[in-house]
Amino acid sequence: MEAVTSSRPYHIVVFGASGFTGKFVVEEVARYAAESPRDNRLTWAVAGRSVQRLKGMLKQAADRLAMPELSTDIDIIAADVSSKESLANMCQQAIVILNCVGPYRFYGEPVVAACVENGAHYIDICGEPQFLERMQLEYHTKASATGVYVIGSCGFDSIPADLGILYTQSHFKGTLTAVESFLTISSGPEGTCGHDATWRSAVHGFADSGALRQLRRKFDHKPLPVVGTKVRPRGFVFFSREIMQYAIPFMGSDPSVVKRTQRFLYQEKSRSPIQYYAYVGVGGLCSVAKLFCGGLLFGIMVRFSLGRKLLTMFPRFFSFGLFSKAGPTIKQIEDTCFNMTFFGEGYAEAADPSQGPPNAKICTEVMGAEPGYVATVIAMVQAAVTLLKEKHCLPMRGGVYTPGSAFYNTSLIDRLHNRGFKFSVRTYQEATKA
Ligand SMILES: NC(=O)c1ccc[n+]([C@@H]2O[C@H](COP(=O)([O-])OP(=O)(O)OC[C@H]3O[C@@H](n4cnc5c(N)ncnc54)[C@H](OP(=O)(O)O)[C@@H]3O)[C@@H](O)[C@H]2O)c1
Repeated sequence: MEAVTSSRPYHIVVFGASGFTGKFVVEEVARYAAESPRDNRLTWAVAGRSVQRLKGMLKQAADRLAMPELSTDIDIIAADVSSKESLANMCQQAIVILNCVGPYRFYGEPVVAACVENGAHYIDICGEPQFLERMQLEYHTKASATGVYVIGSCGFDSIPADLGILYTQSHFKGTLTAVESFLTISSGPEGTCGHDATWRSAVHGFADSGALRQLRRKFDHKPLPVVGTKVRPRGFVFFSREIMQYAIPFMGSDPSVVKRTQRFLYQEKSRSPIQYYAYVGVGGLCSVAKLFCGGLLFGIMVRFSLGRKLLTMFPRFFSFGLFSKAGPTIKQIEDTCFNMTFFGEGYAEAADPSQGPPNAKICTEVMGAEPGYVATVIAMVQAAVTLLKEKHCLPMRGGVYTPGSAFYNTSLIDRLHNRGFKFSVRTYQEATKA
């Protein structure tokens, strides 16, 4: 670790550490801290609304990791989203807050505000475009003035997509103009599932999608210029020859986050913007039929408060087992991994993008462990480590940033590599598995 640059007692405070994801973040921070040199050890604490639950979580983490010191040496800070004073007290003690309290649309803003007001950098794992974009609209100027970095979506949403695009661009010899990504998730015999909080975020996000359109108008952005041939989105469901299964557009935050990064790099760094479409593999025709019925029911139910209530009361039933109140088992987590393949096109070095169709292609891949609770927490913790160690490589002023706009000039991809992510360039033949 670099020396602590302020007099704050903790490099990192994990807020919401007693939650399903929070406890995995705690374990990853503990593992990372144990590896840092003794004379320059990462200092950290946990925070949340129930000291009792936090104590229980630390005891469990101590047992799981065989690190008994976690139960005795890690400080606990009581902080509740509904108490401004408690949030200020937490933020004043930390250089970086890792916020694991979600759904962010309900709980996130007071934490962002407290960080900005009290000079702590903020990182979250939000996958809700409306929250992320609203924070940019309302807090960028204030965060910039106080030198605070507010970096959202540092989990599976949307580090693999956002950094995957930057990786693809850096390996393309010429001008990369368009990328399509295909996500596939492989699981073991017991399948995979997500925890209820992510399901609740999705239910309320879809219900409020009109507000996102209104919010975007407030930015008053001009459309990004289209360089090269304009790429059209594929249909709602289509058979993808790239991944040899049916695919649908990816509904998470990746397209929104990547677009914000591309806008930042175009406006601030004069980089040529990339058109981007994200898809996810859903399997064979049977899965498509199930998805269609489930999607239709979901689309109708989210419109009504009773429907939303039922959806959030019975996540397992309405998501066909994809989400549950208990979350995935350790076995499910251990047996799951993800692959995101990027198919890019553009113009070779000597070619002019205004003259004719693209004449060069590239294919890259980001692979990693289970996305929701392994890849996500590795990404979040490495984002924090990068902020602590390479702050001089981030944009000069603080502000609200996407992972790509904050970290494009840092070694975050290498750090992720070292903790089990794999970024690689592939040939088209390898990638399409045809
Ligand atoms: N980007 C990704 O890929 C990704 C992956 C996983 C999760 N996530 C997101 O991470 C968020 C958390 O998910 P989760 O499954 O961990 O949820 P969870 O298990 O419900 O945990 C929520 C945490 O928030 C705390 N909390 C709730 N209300 C609070 C308040 N008023 N003040 C202080 N703390 C409060 C809870 O404390 P108690 O323990 O005291 O109840 C708990 O620690 C969700 O938004 C989810 O979508 C994103």
